[in-house]
Amino acid sequence: MAKNGLKVKNEEPALRLIPKSLEYLDKTDEERIEYIKKERFIVYPSAKKILDKLEELLIEPKKTRMPCLLIVGDSNNGKTSIVKKFYKSHMPTDGIETDAVPVIIVQAPPRPDVAMFYDAILDEILIPFRKSDSLSRKESEITYYFQKLGTKMLIVDEIHNILSGSVARQKEFMNALKNLNNRLLMPIVLVGIKEALNATNTDFQISSRFKPMYLKRWNFNGEYRGLLKSIEKILPLKKESGLPDDNKLAEYILESSEGLLGEIIELLNLSAIIAIGGGKEKITMEDLKKTGYVMPSLRRSINDLEAV
Ligand SMILES: Nc1ncnc2c1ncn2[C@@H]1O[C@H](COP(=O)(O)OP(=O)(O)OP(=O)(O)O)[C@@H](O)[C@H]1O
Ligand SMILES: [Mg+2]
Repeated sequence: MAKNGLKVKNEEPALRLIPKSLEYLDKTDEERIEYIKKERFIVYPSAKKILDKLEELLIEPKKTRMPCLLIVGDSNNGKTSIVKKFYKSHMPTDGIETDAVPVIIVQAPPRPDVAMFYDAILDEILIPFRKSDSLSRKESEITYYFQKLGTKMLIVDEIHNILSGSVARQKEFMNALKNLNNRLLMPIVLVGIKEALNATNTDFQISSRFKPMYLKRWNFNGEYRGLLKSIEKILPLKKESGLPDDNKLAEYILESSEGLLGEIIELLNLSAIIAIGGGKEKITMEDLKKTGYVMPSLRRSINDLEAV
């Protein structure tokens, strides 16, 4: 069959699906749908670049000016998933008795409040403390336990939260991060939407320390086709949809998702579920439209209207 002048190969399931998804072809529709909904991590080139950079930072020898990183990108485009993947790959393996915690991830507090930030770190490493303890005491506790746990990297997600405070408080917060970086001699990785750059731009010493890496929205190119291919390899459908080679479908998916990874995944998962329910067993334009998917920017404006 020819689609947009391109041949759909209709490869055997064994050739077009990953082994785990192949196993699911023989399971019930409900089991296949459950499987589709599971969270998973697809490695794509930009994610691989960031993961490699994180690995590089993790083995950086201790020195007075430890390099740091700022991962920026639009919301719902895979930033947290990357750092979580990195965190998981450095978790002590089950069954091995060790207290080591090489990587720690915390969320930035909802406002630039250093005490709340220290509390979040101590909570994460399960160290009891009193909220009323002084900042310097909390700082000493963090330093002591990070050394004890062999912690080599601190990741702070949602760093743009700190923009909700005054510039003076933002500066104070960024200074606390800088001091922690100096004191612990370990890289600090900040993660947030691009406005987070305003937080690191509070002074030159900080902006020069936090080198940004951008996680861009998806464009219509080979990488995007590669992503569609990876997703199709996971979806346990009995027939090939041929998403990467079908320009109409691929463009429709990109437009509807506005190039955001979380949206692409959700739209394709929903369509695959419809394709299973309807018995077609492959994603078609009709299924994509049937999802009733609304573009994220349009969704936001609808919500705004409702809020009025
Ligand atoms: N590598 C990946 N493989 C498969 N699915 C992914 C991947 N990365 C992200 N996703 C999907 O996209 C969704 C959004 O990703 P994530 O939460 O990492 O975005 P984010 O950039 O941190 O967004 P926010 O700025 O709103 O926190 C995830 O829930 C997951 O379903
Ligand atoms: Mg996130």
